[in-house]
Amino acid sequence: MNQLEIAKSQLEVKGYLDLPINEKDIIAKIQELKKEKNAVILGHYYQDGAIQEISDFLGDSLYLANAAANTKADMIVFAGVHFMAETAKILNPNKKVVLPDLNAGCSLADSCPPNTFKEFVEAHPDHLVISYINCSAEIKALSDIICTSSNALKIIEQVPANRPIIFAPDKNLGAYLQKETGREMLLWDGACLVHEAFSMDKILMLIKEHPDAEIIAHPESEAHLLKLAHFVGSTTALLHHVQHSTHHKFIVATEVGILHEMRKNAPEKHLIAAPAKENNTCACSECAFMKLNTLEKLYLCMKYELPEITLSEELMKKALAPIQRMLAIK
Ligand code: 13P
Ligand code: SF4
Repeated sequence: MNQLEIAKSQLEVKGYLDLPINEKDIIAKIQELKKEKNAVILGHYYQDGAIQEISDFLGDSLYLANAAANTKADMIVFAGVHFMAETAKILNPNKKVVLPDLNAGCSLADSCPPNTFKEFVEAHPDHLVISYINCSAEIKALSDIICTSSNALKIIEQVPANRPIIFAPDKNLGAYLQKETGREMLLWDGACLVHEAFSMDKILMLIKEHPDAEIIAHPESEAHLLKLAHFVGSTTALLHHVQHSTHHKFIVATEVGILHEMRKNAPEKHLIAAPAKENNTCACSECAFMKLNTLEKLYLCMKYELPEITLSEELMKKALAPIQRMLAIK
């Protein structure tokens, strides 16, 4: 049985019978469990609004990694995806880290299998390996330093000009960073499905309809969209931009969950989610992995302390150093 199957069977044995009936009751139970278990909920901006609201720390990947590094809680409940919970576990090997749904993976992390990446790194022994945090613990262990979209520019700018760089796993973010820094880097050929799902045709139609709108985009998006964008930045940078810009209307090209916090922080602004190629429920781009987490699963995972993230001591030790190097950069 794999970890997910074990977690499922354990939950089935204990039963879902005591699941509170409505959202208000579930939220009240989660609040009780937080106190009872000295638990902290770390929530990413791409989670459903209700989960964002109940999170103790809400933010982007870098903010949440810092929150995990500094928490005094006994149990970390990660309302995000697997690589984020793994990072929290690596930073807290002696704490319990749980993820509401163990299937909450990441297409970008999946696009970088450890065996092939190891061969790639070994073929370029003189290169400094910078990996985006959206990767597995095994990839982190093969890296020299980790970055997020918030600090990648700063990290690359600190690398001596004569040191060749491997950047993994996101080719779109990598290409954007090459353009911004003027540094040639060897790029791993990975990508995020969600940020590659935007339809240029539909966005161009939206621009015609709303010529006064600014296009803002996450750097995981493809180059042709980034070229069109008036502002490119990490999730937090996009949020700040909407709040502080003098513009009133924005077409937002990133995962639609961020609009929840944007609307709260800038209720007077007009926000339009950039449309995706496929017609889906929201006509925007949603991360199906992030959305696997629900309030019900959050409650159950806090109650039964499952599914739990477990990693070998050796892997955690190897993956910790590159994460700590990133966190040391202010
Ligand atoms: P940030 O949270 O660093 O902006 O990354 C976006 C993302 O895709 C998270 O999976
Ligand atoms: Fe991964 Fe993309 Fe989802 Fe972020 S939005 S978790 S990069 S698939």
